[in-house]
Amino acid sequence: MPDRDDLRPGGGNNGSGATEDEAAHRILELRSAITRAEYLYYVEDAPELQDDVYDALLRELQQLEAKHPNLVTPDSPTRRVGGAPREGFVKVAHLSPMLSLDNVFSEEELRAFWARSLREAEGHLWRDGLRGFACELKIDGLAVSLLYEDGLFVRGATRGDGLVGEDVTANLRTLRGLPLALRKTVPGRLEVRGEVYMRREDFAALNEEREEREEPLFANPRNAAAGALRQLDPAVTASRKLRFFAYFVPDAIQRGLAGQIETLEWLRDLGFPVQDSSRRVESLDQVCAFIAHWKEARFSLPYVTDGVVIKADDLRLWDVLGRTAKAPRWAVAFKYPAEEKRTLLREIVVSVGRTGTLTPVAILEPVHLAGTVVQRASLHNQDEVARKDVRVGDYVWVRKAGEIIPEIVRVDRDARKDDPPPFLLPRTCPVCGSPVVTLPDEVALRCPNRSCPAQIKEGLRHFASRSGMDIRGLGEKLVDQLVERNLVRNLADLYDLRTEDLAGLERMGETSARKLVAAIEASRRRPPARLLAALGIRHVGSRTAELIVERFRGMEALLTATEEELAAVDGVGPRIAASVRAFVEDPENRIMLRRLREKGVAWEMEAASSPEEDADFPMERPFLGMRIVFTGDLERATRGEVEELVKRLGGVPTSSVSAKTSFVVVGRNPGSKFQKATALGCRIVSEEEFWQMIKPFRNDDFPFAASPAPEVEDVSGLPE
Ligand code: IVH
Repeated sequence: MPDRDDLRPGGGNNGSGATEDEAAHRILELRSAITRAEYLYYVEDAPELQDDVYDALLRELQQLEAKHPNLVTPDSPTRRVGGAPREGFVKVAHLSPMLSLDNVFSEEELRAFWARSLREAEGHLWRDGLRGFACELKIDGLAVSLLYEDGLFVRGATRGDGLVGEDVTANLRTLRGLPLALRKTVPGRLEVRGEVYMRREDFAALNEEREEREEPLFANPRNAAAGALRQLDPAVTASRKLRFFAYFVPDAIQRGLAGQIETLEWLRDLGFPVQDSSRRVESLDQVCAFIAHWKEARFSLPYVTDGVVIKADDLRLWDVLGRTAKAPRWAVAFKYPAEEKRTLLREIVVSVGRTGTLTPVAILEPVHLAGTVVQRASLHNQDEVARKDVRVGDYVWVRKAGEIIPEIVRVDRDARKDDPPPFLLPRTCPVCGSPVVTLPDEVALRCPNRSCPAQIKEGLRHFASRSGMDIRGLGEKLVDQLVERNLVRNLADLYDLRTEDLAGLERMGETSARKLVAAIEASRRRPPARLLAALGIRHVGSRTAELIVERFRGMEALLTATEEELAAVDGVGPRIAASVRAFVEDPENRIMLRRLREKGVAWEMEAASSPEEDADFPMERPFLGMRIVFTGDLERATRGEVEELVKRLGGVPTSSVSAKTSFVVVGRNPGSKFQKATALGCRIVSEEEFWQMIKPFRNDDFPFAASPAPEVEDVSGLPE
């Protein structure tokens, strides 16, 4: 590991005067830090660097490598991105067929499968018997094969028809969890297979973005992952946040590995992400217990699983049992049934979205489904309601598409008693009463009134959301109140709010009002691409906003850009261009934008701060790479606040003390962590010392920790 102090972005001597030697040294340092960060994030699930620090290190490495192209190596983390779009994919033959799995749907079928398989193995069972079964969760993604030569990633391919797949090496390189160089060198060729998948939250964000652009939504993470991996432009794949789990080494036994679980451990040691949930069990009863446990527990995982894969753990059995044409006989997939439940449709309400679209939403008698309680399901539009013939008072079958999005599958027609009238969307907006309109080429009905409170509320929610201006504390209820009391009529009004305006609102004390005003203030420093996305212009999601702002270097030039100039931006078509133009041309929007600018919202790219250069905390990151533990009651701030501070200063707030702890901040009545820290000889500082430490890095008007200095607490007086 390089010296932590030197890991600060730009911390090495990489100025233009840097010698080749110095550059080479810094490059090695950066690569090692970045690779370590990727490993901790994607394999260990224990991130150490904040995203923005990671980005800064990567940027520095890119710049250095650009200056010294002779120092670039294929395993450099910079090689994950870039590469020009291709014309099509090259077909590659797999070294051995990529099989699929037989499915079973019940315990009986499962037992029958193994009875059949193991009978054949009887003559081959060894004295020490079966090593039992490996149970793994079946990830809903797509299988890929990865090839490494002398420890370096050289080729990746999709499964294709099992014999011939497509070369997607450039796309796979963009997966940050996929090791480009193994942590331990494996001489010669190594093939590893596993699953590429997308996490629920990344899937949801992608669909949100697509909805924004009015592109068709992906039904499930699997389709989304497949779509992302088959992009001709690796930059698009990179933006889709795919992940990887390794689960198979075709020649494991020749490598001296004895079991599947041992193989997974070996893979993990090489730097591959593997599922933590995988277990070796002794009997089929224990397999069933594993299946029963994960039936519900799987819904709390960040990714979708649709079953359990049960493999003979003893690799010698794999040869003995062999395979059928399509699937191995030493493994089987138990598929969980897709849950469908019947429930009463109580009501159909009409919601009015940010752009005025009227959407019918089914309000259901709450039912437990795939891990959550479902009580609403979108019916999308009038056509969909008619197609499914859904009526109020019906009993309906609901399920979750891709185990995520609740939907009505069909109506239980036999249960319909009297003949309720078909549902029709209203001709006037249910919120403001304006007559609705249909735009050309659209099915949707729209409320054309831009002052409709529903549109304003939705617009504000979007503006304040995490991917937008990220105004913490501006929740649903508060937005409702602000609009209903006429305190906010458009986005710019937010920046006029004072503590006094807010303090009188429901569930709003003086302190929370002050915090909210501070959060609104802080949001002015979000980069202009975030601002542009937050404005809620139709078809403009975060990715599009980034492309546009990148091209115009900020907001000002964008305001005067012609439709042609906009449409000429890579990734921005005529439809988006027209929408942006219409938005900025609108006189009311122009006034609102001017006001935002006057309020000091970051407008041009240069003027914008990257997240780390906050006005309260400039670029300095004194705690970079440090793990800091707090124990006992703090006087001047809450635990959450100091942890936030530590993060902003580059550190990692950690809950337990270990040899890796950089120092422990001890408040009043410290707990066992204090004892452990002294036992381990960790550096210990008092709360006051901590505030002193960070003093040079903060403004005094920082919302918390600004109270008068308390008496200095001398930790040396605390019991040992
Ligand atoms: S083992 C010969 N393990 O399920 C080995 N497959 O329905 C076959 N899958 O094509 C694969 N999670 O894409 C295995 N833990 C896991 C898996 C898994 C998901 C997928 C894989 C395979 C498909 C078969």
